[in-house]
This record gives sequence, structure tokens and C-alpha cells, in this order.
Amino acid sequence: MGKFQVLDHPLIQHKLTIIRNKNCGTRSFREVVNEISTLMAYEVSRDMPLQNKEIETPVAHMTAKELAGKKVAIVPILRAGIGMVDGILELIPAAKVGHIGMYRDEKTLQPHEYFVKLPSDIDQRQVFVVDPMLATGGSAIMAIDALKKRGASNIKFVCLVSAPEGVKALQEKHPDVDIYTAALDDHLNEDGYIVPGLGDAGDRLFGTK
Ligand code: PRP
Ligand code: URA
Repeated sequence: MGKFQVLDHPLIQHKLTIIRNKNCGTRSFREVVNEISTLMAYEVSRDMPLQNKEIETPVAHMTAKELAGKKVAIVPILRAGIGMVDGILELIPAAKVGHIGMYRDEKTLQPHEYFVKLPSDIDQRQVFVVDPMLATGGSAIMAIDALKKRGASNIKFVCLVSAPEGVKALQEKHPDVDIYTAALDDHLNEDGYIVPGLGDAGDRLFGTK
């Protein structure tokens, strides 16, 4: 079973409270999602492999460390995942970015895929799938299906708020995928929204409601 980790760093928790508040406007929401994503990237990249590198400091020769080969791809699930990309690129600027378009039918809650564009060498990359919300898990599961179909095998899923139902479903379907979240909330309501959650992440990011 993959790792399931709630990133409970005080800065992450403080900033999450800011965006959960219904009085947080679009501009602040976008800024703070970016900031949280940067902080999460720091934790999510903790197990990246290192290799030795021989260098000269101004004082002496040394065997120093650098990141070993593994290249990264950030794959946001559209739309809301886009809000997390820039924050992660702050720390991993060389990452490539793929996109998976997915919307959830409001009645059935079933996800529908409408767009997939990935780096051609996705099979050789450490992939961070990002989406602020893990609710039923349907969108994340389908996005990871799409990635695996195209050869990706080294996948982590990063979200801001998760529901127990979504975590369970994702772990059952993709037990090899590590899940990182800033919060594990209580439950889903009858409309498929996470409670207490933060509302519709896409609408809050882009000001569409
Ligand atoms: C939201 C969210 C996730 C999905 C989570 O997207 O950003 O992608 O719902 O729900 P699930 O776990 O039950 O699948 P939405 O479908 O509202 O699309 P949007 O980002 O374009 O608004
Ligand atoms: N998608 C959202 O944007 N919010 C939820 O609470 C559930 C799914």
C-alpha cells in the first residue's frame, strides 16, 4: 500500500484555514493555494534520490550532493489543479507540466475525461498529479488510469483537502500511489462536496460562481 500522509506543518494548516473561509476572495484564494503548494512540494520531494558530485568550493575540494537523474512531471487535473502548478514550480523549476482535463457530472458524480496532453517521456518521470480536492476519488482514479495507460509508473497524488471516501477508493484502485494531503476532512455530503471542505475549488480559484 502506498503512503498516506497528512502534511500538518503549521504554515500549511494556517494557510489552509485562510482559503477554507468563505470570505476569502478569488485573488487571495489563488495566492494562498500557490503558497500551500510550494510548502507541500517541499515535503512531497523529501524522498527524491541524491547522488554525489565532486566540486571545488572557494576553500577546498568536496564530495557534495545533487538530485539524481529522476526528472519530474507535474500533472494538474483541470481546472482546479492548475492552481497548484506554479507553487510547485517555485521549488522544482525544471519540471515539465502535463494536463489532464476532467469534469465531474454534477448529478452522477462520475468523472469525464476531455483532454490529455503529457510530456512524451512521461514513463521516465516522477509524476506529481495535483488537484486541490479528493472527494469521491473518481477524478483522481481516472487521471491516474490515463497516466498509467501512457506508461507512467512512478506517481504521487497531491491534494489540499481529502475525504475518507476518496482516500479509500484511490488506495484500493491504485495502491502503488502515495497520497499527500493538507487535511483529511469528515465526510462527503449528498452533493458530493467535502464537509467541511472549502467549496468548489475550481469556482473559487477562477471566480466562476
Ligand atoms: C473538482 C475537483 C476534482 C474533483 C474531485 O473538479 O477539482 O477534480 O472535483 O471530485 P471527485 O474526487 O469526486 O472526482 P470539478 O469536476 O468540479 O471540475 P473543475 O475543476 O473544472 O471545476
Ligand atoms: N470538488 C470540489 O471542488 N469541492 C468538493 O468539495 C468536492 C469536489
